[in-house]
Amino acid sequence: MKILGIETSCDETGAAIVEDGVKILSNIVASSQEIHIKTGGIIPERAAREQIKYIIPVIKEALLAITHNSELITPDIDAIAVTVGPGLIGSLLVGVETAKTLSFVWQKPIIPVNHLLAHLYANWLQPEVPQFPAIVLIVSGGHTELLLMKNHGKYEWLGGTRDDAAGEAFDKIARLLGLGYPGGPAIAAAAEKFAMRHMPYAIKLPRPMIGSGDFDFSFSGLKTAVLREVKKNKAPSPEFINGLAYEVQEAITDVLVKKAVRAARENDVKNIILAGGVAANQRLREKMKLEINLHVPPPALCMDNAAAIAACAYFNNSPLPWPKIAAQPSLGLNGEV
Ligand code: KG4
Ligand code: ZN
Repeated sequence: MKILGIETSCDETGAAIVEDGVKILSNIVASSQEIHIKTGGIIPERAAREQIKYIIPVIKEALLAITHNSELITPDIDAIAVTVGPGLIGSLLVGVETAKTLSFVWQKPIIPVNHLLAHLYANWLQPEVPQFPAIVLIVSGGHTELLLMKNHGKYEWLGGTRDDAAGEAFDKIARLLGLGYPGGPAIAAAAEKFAMRHMPYAIKLPRPMIGSGDFDFSFSGLKTAVLREVKKNKAPSPEFINGLAYEVQEAITDVLVKKAVRAARENDVKNIILAGGVAANQRLREKMKLEINLHVPPPALCMDNAAAIAACAYFNNSPLPWPKIAAQPSLGLNGEV
């Protein structure tokens, strides 16, 4: 079964063809990140305008994997999968309305996909697919979610962030430290510079909620703690900034690893599935692997991409008539998809 996936929830415009939920035939991503780097963050209106320009060329390019004709004639696909939420409304609408139009014109079923769930399906695009039961940790720009997953479509929500998501914490703290956007890779690079110098580090930041008995997270206090350190230092040296970035990365990854591993132990589960943009973080991957059997996509597939959308649709194949498909910016994990 070949599914055309379409992803436009944030600043990426993606289209991909995936066969039987596991084999990528094409995976095209156009990003407007360069524009957002200049503005230090995403301007939603700007992102959507770029997506309107990219969407058709990106879909055409993805279709080239299965047809030599790049015109949008009825291609040899079995269904169209599209991200309906969560995400930025203007961005979501570009993908959703395009998918509905193609579904109508091509007379192909359309499968609505939850972007958060789709992130974890990047793990099915690997040679070794995850086994159930598993603990799922989704860490993206807007979400930190911990789930117990017993099968496709069968999961129990264990906890999530009470304020800033892990990716949001990286992004906001990077801005405080003058490290630019997106914050995760910027903090990771600064932390790496510090680690390579093998210097002892004096500033200790809190590990918020690390010992709480639940599976919730809170990262906004960490941002406040960093702000306090920055304010104390009137002329911060690059070493100071890199050292602080190092400690931020340690604090965030310590909490994520501790809680996910405890969730696994308490539920007698041997596997962790990591997903979302923050899953690209090397330090997080390293620390998690030391503790438990880890499934994590290669960094490029941790980021927003349409192959994960198509894979998710294959394993959660619930098509709807196109008039019932709507963008849902605040869709959660319990929302109907
Ligand atoms: O999943 P994603 O691509 O988009 C959303 O659905 O939100 O995640 C983007 C987030 C950003 O907050 C970004 O700073 C973070 O993922 N990120 C990282 C790394 N690469 C991206 N965070 C930590 N380390 C990284 N290497
Ligand atoms: Zn995402």
